[in-house]
Formats: sequence, C-alpha cells, structure tokens
Amino acid sequence: MVKIGIVGAGKICQGPHMGAYDKIENTKIVAICDINEQKLEAVSKRYPDAKLYTDYQEMIDNEELDAVDICTPNNYHSIIAIYALNKGINVICEKPDAINAEEAEKMKKAAEESGKTLMVIRNNRYRPTTKFLKQYIAEDKMGEIYAGRCGWIRRRGIPGWGGWFTDKAQSGGGPLIDLGVHIIDLAIYLMGNPKPVTVSGSTYSKFPHTSYSKTDVEDLAMGFIRFDNGACLQIEFSWASNIEYDQMFVELRGEKAGSRMSGIDRKFEIFTEECGTNVTLKPAVDDYNCPPHHELNIRHFIDVIEGKAEPDFTPIQGVNMVKILDALYKSAELGHEIALD
Ligand SMILES: NC(=O)c1ccc[n+]([C@@H]2O[C@H](COP(=O)([O-])OP(=O)(O)OC[C@H]3O[C@@H](n4cnc5c(N)ncnc54)[C@H](O)[C@@H]3O)[C@@H](O)[C@H]2O)c1
Repeated sequence: MVKIGIVGAGKICQGPHMGAYDKIENTKIVAICDINEQKLEAVSKRYPDAKLYTDYQEMIDNEELDAVDICTPNNYHSIIAIYALNKGINVICEKPDAINAEEAEKMKKAAEESGKTLMVIRNNRYRPTTKFLKQYIAEDKMGEIYAGRCGWIRRRGIPGWGGWFTDKAQSGGGPLIDLGVHIIDLAIYLMGNPKPVTVSGSTYSKFPHTSYSKTDVEDLAMGFIRFDNGACLQIEFSWASNIEYDQMFVELRGEKAGSRMSGIDRKFEIFTEECGTNVTLKPAVDDYNCPPHHELNIRHFIDVIEGKAEPDFTPIQGVNMVKILDALYKSAELGHEIALD
C-alpha cells in the first residue's frame, strides 16, 4: 500500500486529488495537513483514519510516508517539496512547479540528491487527444513540426479575487503562470520538447477596476517563443479580456499535417491533404469518456514510485518551463526579447 500525505486540502485536493486516491486501489491517504482547521475538519469526515496536521514539517517528520502530494498555493510548492525530498520522500506537486526558476532548480537538485521521484502535475498530457496526437506525431504523420499557437483565454474568469491567486508573492503571477504552465507545456511536449532559446512577451493588468480588490498580477499575457530547432510558438493567456468567447487550444503546424485541439468547444481536428485535396480528419477520440486526467496523472506517479513505469515528466522539464515563464515576465517588464541560457 502506498502511503500518501497531502498538504493543502483546498479545492483541487478535495476534488481531483482525493477523487483519484479513492479510485487507485493500492494507495491510502494516511495524513492530511492544512493551516486552515475548518478545511481539516471537513476532510476528516471523508478520511476518518487519516492523521491531521496544521504543520507540514510535523506531518512529514511523524508519519512514515511513501509520497507527499502538494496542493497548496504556488509559493509553498518548492519549499514543501524540498523538505519532503530531503527526508527521502517522493513528491507529486500541483502546477506550477514553482514561482520562479531558482526555486524550480532547487527542487530539481533536491530530487537528484535524494534519488526520489519528483513529478509536477501535467494533467493535460493525460487527455486521450494528447495521447493520440503524441502517437500520430511519433509515427511521423505530421512531418516536421515547425510552428504552433496555443492559449487559454477567458473573457471573464479571474480565480479567487483578492485571495492568493491575485497576489504575486503567493501565486508568482496571473494567467501566464496559472494557465500558461498547462498549455505551453502541452504544446512543447507535443513538439518533442525542443529547447527554448528566446522569448518575447507583453503583459497587461487592465481589469482591477471591475473589482473592489487590488491585484499585482497580469490579466493578459501575449508572447512568442523560439526553439533551438527553428520552431516557434505563439502564446496568449487571459483571465479577463474583451473577446468573443473563451478558448483553450493547441494548434500545431507540421509539413505533412497540422492539428488543433480545442478544450472548451471539445474539437480535435487534423488538417492535411490527400490526392490534391484538403482533408480535415476528426479522430474518434475524446477527452470526456475516460477517467479524470488527474487520476491518470496520479496513477502514473504511483506506477513510477513502484518501479512499474519510467516518469514521463522529469524535473528538468519543469525547470525549462518555469525559465520560459520567468523570461516572458522579464521581457514584458523590459520591453524586449530575452535569451535563455
Ligand atoms: N492542475 C489543475 O488543473 C489545477 C486546477 C486548480 C488549481 N491547481 C493548483 O492547485 C494548487 C491549489 O489550488 P486550489 O484551487 O486548491 O487552492 P485553495 O486555495 O482552494 O487551496 C489551497 C489550500 O492550501 C492551504 N494552505 C495554504 N498554505 C498552506 C501551508 N503552508 N501548509 C498547508 N496548507 C496550506 C489553504 O488553507 C487551502 O486550504 C495551486 O497551486 C493551483 O495552481 C491546479
């Protein structure tokens, strides 16, 4: 039985994470930590045998855990992950990996020194459409993928106004770090993880007037990423924007075919040419008649720590992702393109 200790018993924990452990037969939530005692009381009804803690260090020191699952606000991800790894415990952590690249590097170092597994949730990689497209690309049916566009744009959808999401010290930023980490990762993963070399970004904070609360994070980010293989990726992320409708999409251009996965209108299409005619394929695969993507992601983590699978997320991918986000923010601040090392 894989013994799990959870830190942060908020929305994502009580929904997709606890839902996953309820389904994964060989796991047991043995301890739960949250600084909010009301949250602890609520989850104790669901897991009466779990030990409850308000201090994550005490939980990690007192319990014999196989893995710590981190579902706190973003600024605690690296701090808790490093503490657990240094105590020889495997870690699965919510996205984003960390609030800046320095913290992500420290997490990677702690994982390497401990020899334990560190995986950050990338639930969108577990969509059936992603799996299908990854395989389609691996079979070289799209040819060289030389360009892409991706985004998650909301007309109105600022999470938790006045709470930690809109406070840069706790969140690390707005939609770029919150939504960008999902979708930029998905695009780069499908493109075969090319190395990013330069980025250019602009960010805007134009919607504080719609609320009584103050915020110091952006509500829109636009940008452009170039890779070492010559490919490029255009990005856009918003929590609030005067646009027609919400979209969440990854669009890839390959020499032989292009593709578009569109998460909100649930469309998945491949664009190619047959016998001199343009052809649009609509693969018979969808993201909704399957177990929740978080459950598939957490099942994979459990398989990895049990030695049954090789991790399909490695800490270096997390460092590279957070470096891109940092550089996009820096580019927006300085007003010019930034080179990544
Ligand atoms: N993968 C996804 O699709 C997805 C979706 C939503 C949120 N998230 C991520 O999940 C994380 C949590 O988001 P949420 O929406 O559940 O937030 P939330 O505010 O609902 O929950 C966070 C919980 O952490 C607790 N907490 C704060 N500091 C703590 C500490 N030091 N020790 C222990 N507990 C602490 C809070 O009391 C709260 O109960 C974030 O990193 C967010 O980016 C991921």
